Amino acid sequence: MKITTLRSETTAKIYAWKEAGLTVGFVPTMGALHRGHISLIEEARKTCDIVTCSIFVNPIQFNNTSDLDTYPKTIEADIEKLENAGCDLVFIPDTEEMYPEPVTEKYDFGALENVLEGAFRPGHFNGVAVVVKRLFDIMIPDMAFFGEKDYQQLLIIKALVLHDNIPVEIVPCPIIREKDGLAMSSRNTRLSENERTVAPFIYNTLCKAAEMGKTHTIEQIVSWGEAQFNNNDNFKLEYFQIADNIELQPVVNKKKSDNARLLVAAWLGKVRLIDNVDINF
Ligand code: PAF
Repeated sequence: MKITTLRSETTAKIYAWKEAGLTVGFVPTMGALHRGHISLIEEARKTCDIVTCSIFVNPIQFNNTSDLDTYPKTIEADIEKLENAGCDLVFIPDTEEMYPEPVTEKYDFGALENVLEGAFRPGHFNGVAVVVKRLFDIMIPDMAFFGEKDYQQLLIIKALVLHDNIPVEIVPCPIIREKDGLAMSSRNTRLSENERTVAPFIYNTLCKAAEMGKTHTIEQIVSWGEAQFNNNDNFKLEYFQIADNIELQPVVNKKKSDNARLLVAAWLGKVRLIDNVDINF
């Protein structure tokens, strides 16, 4: 596996592969890799001749400095995991390489960027869009793979690709879960032993609420879900919402939205966790 740190050498190498007629898959990450990330590499391996990855903890997408400071970093283990998974190239730039000048780009994703994560993490999606656009310019992928755990991010990336006319296919990949249902996340390593034990409550509550889809109103499901979290001292709920799966606007009329998404964000101690499931009516 080739490891690069400079934009120019990365693009030159990938360009040579593309000139030779090979298709390039790309998995952008912030490191602290777990099985969820590796499943994206494996998916890319199935469909592309060359698999590339990036590891860059993008400072401009963190709206909370302590989250940035405590974001787990496991670079040696990450490189080993990527090598074992059959990744061909990993790009590991520093901040200066990605942002040599102050960032001025401002994206407008309309209604999609102001709800859920966008409402609770101001500036987050602009930071994601800026870095992903730059990474796409450097990695020139034919296909890029994103996990559905960050469901709103996936929709933002799709909107970015449309808006900037970027010739890349975005491939959504299913959430990978621990045996007890907890969605895999790099932030899970920051949970205490006790927090880790109670964390599956999030997915269990989502599943129970999704089962209510055919028998209860939206309002009943949402109030039930909110009550579960509010009655559980371990968690501090930010949102528990049912949204359409295109612009993530709140669903009011069940009949109009057969396929919606049930999304949650909650603090467990000092760790903010998100998760989502499909809900059908
Ligand atoms: O999902 C992530 O890990 C990040 O948001 C991404 C897409 C790598 C951009 O920094």
